Amino acid sequence: MKTDALCAMRYAKNKESKTIMLSKILPALRGVLAENNALPRLIKTEPTGDETVISITPGCEDVLAEIKQQLPAPINPVTIEGYGTYTAIFSDDTTGRVAGKIAIVTGAAQGFGYEIACSLAREGAWVALADINEEGVKQAAAKINSELKSDTAVGVVVNVADKKSLNSAVEMVVGIFGGIDLFVSNAGVLRAGSVKTLSERDLDFVTNVNYKGYFLSVQAAAPIMALQNQAAPQIWSDIIQVNSKSGLVGSNKNGAYAGSKFGGIGLTQSFAMELVEDGIKVNSICPGNFYDGPLWADPEKGLFKQYLDSGKVPGAKTFDDVKAFYESKVPMRRGCTTPDVMKAVFYLMEQAYETGQAVPVTGGQVMLS
Ligand SMILES: NC(=O)c1ccc[n+]([C@@H]2O[C@H](COP(=O)([O-])OP(=O)(O)OC[C@H]3O[C@@H](n4cnc5c(N)ncnc54)[C@H](O)[C@@H]3O)[C@@H](O)[C@H]2O)c1
Repeated sequence: MKTDALCAMRYAKNKESKTIMLSKILPALRGVLAENNALPRLIKTEPTGDETVISITPGCEDVLAEIKQQLPAPINPVTIEGYGTYTAIFSDDTTGRVAGKIAIVTGAAQGFGYEIACSLAREGAWVALADINEEGVKQAAAKINSELKSDTAVGVVVNVADKKSLNSAVEMVVGIFGGIDLFVSNAGVLRAGSVKTLSERDLDFVTNVNYKGYFLSVQAAAPIMALQNQAAPQIWSDIIQVNSKSGLVGSNKNGAYAGSKFGGIGLTQSFAMELVEDGIKVNSICPGNFYDGPLWADPEKGLFKQYLDSGKVPGAKTFDDVKAFYESKVPMRRGCTTPDVMKAVFYLMEQAYETGQAVPVTGGQVMLS
């Protein structure tokens, strides 16, 4: 191999291991700098020469111990040798329900994910919108920043079905904000079809995003949250999966989707048991049909069009006929909206004594026994 190529490889590897180390250092530092049960956002700032300087051994296994040893009291800002200077910022928002929290929402370029990210930002959170749709997610984050006249939101590219992509997205978010308090695993896809005919390709597609994607998301985010909790055990984090009513009852000719969502609830319950020791609550929300989102309403590809074209709803001649058919199955006779879902999000975050639950938001369509 040529020397230049070798140097480039070494440089890339060094950069990668520095990013990985930083995603351990910053969450631990956040925890050490916690004040009044709140974790700060860490912002990279220009050094002024007055900072406390700490040095972390490359590859160090117990980053928190090294920080605590060199920083016995919370001092701000801090220069981490070789990584830069970081200033802790506490939110001055006194009314927002999630003021000062750092959230990642996957699948946030559109639909539920985008609206959840907007709602979190409006309630005072710093939000990373993560999506496979690069242009869409950057535009979505820019829209939030323009509405709130701030730099509250960032757009990050991720494929939740790919471990490496998820890890880099999470590392990038930690580099920008300093840690994670809430991970909303929302990215999801649907390929409806009979078990008699659905292709293996479609089955893999749905399973990889909805089931494996949720598993990998938790695998990437939980260690960050655990480090924060190790440093500040009084402060817990939340993982919330946007599941579906199809995770609670079967869905006719939609087995791949329903199976992936049922599986998601198995993961939620299992992760909840395991991650209690790291101060992480893990819950799912199971919304009913969200007719206003693009999944249903997109005029070209949406489910209204697909169901109308395929004759799935007997006698339906318009999108409204299809909608009326599905609404008639709901005791409250309407679809689910993002404000309905947000009430469950805030409940799960504010409720300190619950984990491993699947909360239905279905207008009574699905009732727990
Ligand atoms: N729309 C509904 O009626 C409904 C009802 C109940 C539950 N849900 C669930 O809510 C979640 C969001 O649904 P929606 O209706 O907003 O869907 P949507 O299709 O409008 O948006 C999904 C987003 O996920 C992104 N995405 C897809 N694959 C991805 C991947 N591999 N990595 C990262 N991002 C990816 C897409 O680019 C898109 O921006 C899903 O988990 C879905 O199962 C939806």
